[in-house]
Amino acid sequence: MKAFYLEKGGILMDINSTVTLNNGIKMPLFGLGVFKAEDGTETENAVKWAIDEGYKSIDTAKIYGNESSVGQGIKASGVAREDIFLTTKVWNSDQGYETTLEAFEKSLKLLETDYVDLYLIHWPVTGEIQATWKALEEIYESGRAKAIGVSNFHKQHIEKLLETANITPMVNQIELHPYLNQKELRAYCQSKGIVVEAWSPLARGEVLNDSVLKDIAKKHHKSVAQIVIRWDLQNGIVTIPKSVNQERIKQNAEVFDFELSLEEMTAINKLDKGYRSGTNPDTFEI
Ligand code: A2P
Repeated sequence: MKAFYLEKGGILMDINSTVTLNNGIKMPLFGLGVFKAEDGTETENAVKWAIDEGYKSIDTAKIYGNESSVGQGIKASGVAREDIFLTTKVWNSDQGYETTLEAFEKSLKLLETDYVDLYLIHWPVTGEIQATWKALEEIYESGRAKAIGVSNFHKQHIEKLLETANITPMVNQIELHPYLNQKELRAYCQSKGIVVEAWSPLARGEVLNDSVLKDIAKKHHKSVAQIVIRWDLQNGIVTIPKSVNQERIKQNAEVFDFELSLEEMTAINKLDKGYRSGTNPDTFEI
């Protein structure tokens, strides 16, 4: 696993750091998630505050119901569209070839943009994976998605997709945090050249009271959230902590001025207990 460490006297990563996807597109390692951010002022402000703070990547989805406010927030930031990495996802009930193409058009309209940087299949809907992927490949080839990928895909879902795919997904966005570190799935994705992105990197806030993390945080004069975000980054995992609070949006980005030691990384790796804050992709229902 590629790891990022400080070089003597210099910081290797900053808020602009990227990972290169298997098609050569550069994706920011750090960004803002807006799951459960309310459509309207809440999302619009969060996106604008984040971009003001230097965030380069915003992750939304059709099902979040806030694509329009994400688009407004990007506009309000005054930062050029091409300087933002924008992700959205096709929802489960829209999956299938034709319906995915239609859903994509609707997302573009709501986002008020003519392309996204990354379009993802939100969940592996049984029976629809291959047809949905065909639509994503077509969208990619049209240039209206700079990269395509999947979310919540386990090994067997990726294998199903690859049976008929022309293009290997560039990203797999999965639930990943210290209580569910996804070591095996990460290794599998890496073997296929698929970049792993963490959703709910803070387990929706549920890791914040962990005593091991608290001790490490104290040592670095950082918050537990910052420790966890830094752990992602040093593991080479793309991370998109969600916050709608201006202070916490700022705080979550202040993770480029310290480094976790190998011992601390190992201690955090050991916190894994297979705990999910969200749905298991093997048993989810549409
Ligand atoms: P809020 O939006 O009010 O800041 P995840 O990204 O794992 O889903 O976690 C999101 C949850 O964690 C939200 O409830 C968010 O609340 C909260 N959160 C985000 N950043 C921080 C932080 N730095 N400290 C404490 N809670 C945070």
